[in-house]
Amino acid sequence: MDKAVEDLNQSEAAAELARLAQVLAAANAAYHLRDMPEMSDAAYDALKRRNAAIESRFPALKRADSPSEQVGAAVASGFGKVAHRVRMLSLENAFSDADVTDFDDRVKKFLGIQEVSYTAEPKIDGLSLNLRYENGVLVQAATRGDGEVGEDVTQNARTIADIPQTLPTAQPLIEVRGEVYMSHADFDDLNARQTARGDKTFANPRNAAAGSLRQLDASITAARPLRFFAYAWGAVSQPLAASQFSAMTAFKAMGFQVNPLTVLCHSPADMIAHYTKIEAMRATLGYDIDGVVYKVNDLALQERLGFRSTTPRWAIAHKFPAELAWTRLLAIDIQVGRTGALSPVARLQPVTVGGVVVSNATLHNEDYIAGRDSKGGTIRDAKDIRLGDWVQVYRAGDVIPKVADIDLSQRNDTAQPYEFPKICPECGSPAHREGSDSVRRCTGGLICPAQGVERLKHFVSRGAFDIEGLGAKQIEMFFADPDLPVKQPADIFTLSARDADNPFKKLKNRDGFGEKSATNLFAAIDARRTIPLDRLIFALGIRHVGEVAAGVIARHYTTWPAFEAAISVAEPGNPAWEDLLSADGIGAVVAQSLTEAFRNPAERAAIDALAQHLTILPVQARATVASDIAGKTLVFTGTLEKMTRAEAKARAEALGAKVAGSVSAKTDLVIAGPGAGSKAKDAERLGVALIDEDAWIALAGLA
Ligand code: IVH
Repeated sequence: MDKAVEDLNQSEAAAELARLAQVLAAANAAYHLRDMPEMSDAAYDALKRRNAAIESRFPALKRADSPSEQVGAAVASGFGKVAHRVRMLSLENAFSDADVTDFDDRVKKFLGIQEVSYTAEPKIDGLSLNLRYENGVLVQAATRGDGEVGEDVTQNARTIADIPQTLPTAQPLIEVRGEVYMSHADFDDLNARQTARGDKTFANPRNAAAGSLRQLDASITAARPLRFFAYAWGAVSQPLAASQFSAMTAFKAMGFQVNPLTVLCHSPADMIAHYTKIEAMRATLGYDIDGVVYKVNDLALQERLGFRSTTPRWAIAHKFPAELAWTRLLAIDIQVGRTGALSPVARLQPVTVGGVVVSNATLHNEDYIAGRDSKGGTIRDAKDIRLGDWVQVYRAGDVIPKVADIDLSQRNDTAQPYEFPKICPECGSPAHREGSDSVRRCTGGLICPAQGVERLKHFVSRGAFDIEGLGAKQIEMFFADPDLPVKQPADIFTLSARDADNPFKKLKNRDGFGEKSATNLFAAIDARRTIPLDRLIFALGIRHVGEVAAGVIARHYTTWPAFEAAISVAEPGNPAWEDLLSADGIGAVVAQSLTEAFRNPAERAAIDALAQHLTILPVQARATVASDIAGKTLVFTGTLEKMTRAEAKARAEALGAKVAGSVSAKTDLVIAGPGAGSKAKDAERLGVALIDEDAWIALAGLA
């Protein structure tokens, strides 16, 4: 039992402050740097309170490294940010042989050709890294981050033996990409060492690799055996090769490790055969893989195929089947999300699924528990899920585990069907289902504290306002704070003024804060009073408006006034509505959700209150390549002979143009192939420029 603060003498107090500084710094590091909390929030808070109480009794003893001066999250932000010159993308997934055949069909259809070859190689279960070499010298290493901006881990990458410091080429610029991973043997050794030292062990090699690479102290990374396989590239000053396969050979010649199980395939049958072979070897490889990646081999074809918003059209990951385990369902908790969705979470007797201990799993929604799908059909042979059931848990890679099945023979006779709550467990408002939606939603809107706090967490999250020192934990604290409450986004921007007006409970005097951390927080908030339009739209947390949609919408309207004016009046059928739907990938569902949010008086008041505090930066259409057709509206008509319609459209969009289906006064250019009919005539009548396919190919830079 710790001695009461009142009973401490001066030297005991000094010793106790030293001890607390050490314990709290270690707990902070565990939480923020290793993503592995070592103590409960309550225990952590109690220690911080004790520290603050001693400091207030003995102000002269306050240490230079006092824990009161540290905001929790600040420690995590020790890495510099790196904007990737070429975005780091993810991969589309295939789960069956049919998905692989479909992929091959789509590629051929898009290109309009009959024969395509692919490379096939293991999908390494680690974390991706971009290595930048200038004139043959490693100058920077960055993690993927959100794909656009990653973390600078150069010093750490330098300690990895598989990563060459210099290349035998003086090319001005070459960015090599690949996967950092840890072998099974090294993982076991590391965990044994952690145990021997009384340190926390890692759940799996992937977490160990991530935790080891993301160390502020590079000497810790150096002591952890990480490895690297090269498999892709970012910005390069000259082409690496003509094919994916020869690019891999080039990497090898430069001194990189490339996966020895990389082969060339000429058909889906070849690809599936290689997948089967790799799957059979999986357990003996000595490192974790979670599938096989197929990539179109010819780089000219990769270039023609291009990208969707977050994935290339020329590659796919064929994933291994998920891992399964059986355990007992102990309880069902209901979590209320940012959009009011009531999500049932299964609390399970802990069980190991594919090397990870799982004690929570998603139950999706009311229908899923009842054994129905969203269309009223049955799932699991219509077996419902009851408390106490023996359930099968399913985990695929990083995805949240799911309850997949139940074993009726293990069911207790007295088990009753689960009653899904009809009122919100957080605010007591009725929870409704709309139409055929399987999700029951709280109707409390902004009065529901769960929705309020989840929206705020979303508001400050990484792709949104990303305010340093204001993470989920701090949001919960301010949300519940009677003196300095933050209930809606606008309140964040009045925090410093309200704190200045309050002579008593100043932020700097509270648990977890000090003079410096309060000043830092206010400065971090001020830094975000200027925000790009796309981030703001995403931050609003409107249902169906994710990061990609927010980007498309922002680029469509460019400025906040234009966006706000249009959304305020858009209604099905009117020109503002049609214009919104003309934005790439924006359908009626997104449009509906967006316009509803702006028409709801409470929501609108919150948005207006927020906008008052902000300078909203316009967002320009993405200039992927400097092009003559950026911002123009194009119409294709007739038959194209040198490329498919899909390719022509994708190419035009990649160059910043819009592709419309019919010719109007807004059309800038019509591309007419043989057999063009009324659209070509419309173009002539309206005086719109008309070109043939060859001229289009030249314009698109493909000649
Ligand atoms: S290619 C443009 N090849 O999987 C796509 N990725 O799910 C470039 N990964 O972020 C990626 N092994 O971290 C590629 N042989 C491999 C891979 C691989 C693992 C990871 C990579 C990527 C993620 C996508």
